[in-house]
Amino acid sequence: MIIITSSPNETKKIGKKIASLLKKGDVVCLTGELGSGKTTIIKGIVKYLTDCEATSPSFVLINEYPGKIPVFHFDLYRLRCKIEIETIGFEEYLDKGIVLIEWADKITEILPEGTIFINLSIINGKRKIVIKGLERRMKNDKQRKSIKST
Ligand SMILES: Nc1ncnc2c1ncn2[C@@H]1O[C@H](COP(=O)(O)OP(=O)(O)OP(=O)(O)O)[C@@H](O)[C@H]1O
Ligand SMILES: [Mg+2]
Repeated sequence: MIIITSSPNETKKIGKKIASLLKKGDVVCLTGELGSGKTTIIKGIVKYLTDCEATSPSFVLINEYPGKIPVFHFDLYRLRCKIEIETIGFEEYLDKGIVLIEWADKITEILPEGTIFINLSIINGKRKIVIKGLERRMKNDKQRKSIKST
């Protein structure tokens, strides 16, 4: 699915709609150039699921947002090698809640089956958002159109 958004708020709304389709154990990978809106989508997801205000965990590698389903937000921008993520043991977060990973392209080989991919790019100041792995969760055309019409 491809969606174009024209403002940060629209991007955040897409995050909320994605969140409504997520369940415990999901891994969502966000890729895309610097400033393309990865954290903005995450703000929408985290707001919907936990009512917390997500912030970029660039310096701490992971932020945890408590909620009915807890959300674990990784930012791998500063990750220099895969060993680092292996030592964090992100697998152990999988059965506890929902895992969101910015710059996940660095660890594609260790992502579980069923991982949801969101790629963002900047086109004329707008954002092109490509979502893969959620189609089968949208039960009907109404849900599909609802995401598209944001
Ligand atoms: N559709 C949009 N149109 C214009 N600006 C947007 C849109 N979506 C998000 N932005 C803005 O783009 C900027 C960067 O967004 P954000 O921090 O989410 O990007 P990022 O991909 O997480 O960046 P980084 O690579 O540094 O982690 C923010 O100022 C945000 O408000
Ligand atoms: Mg970010």
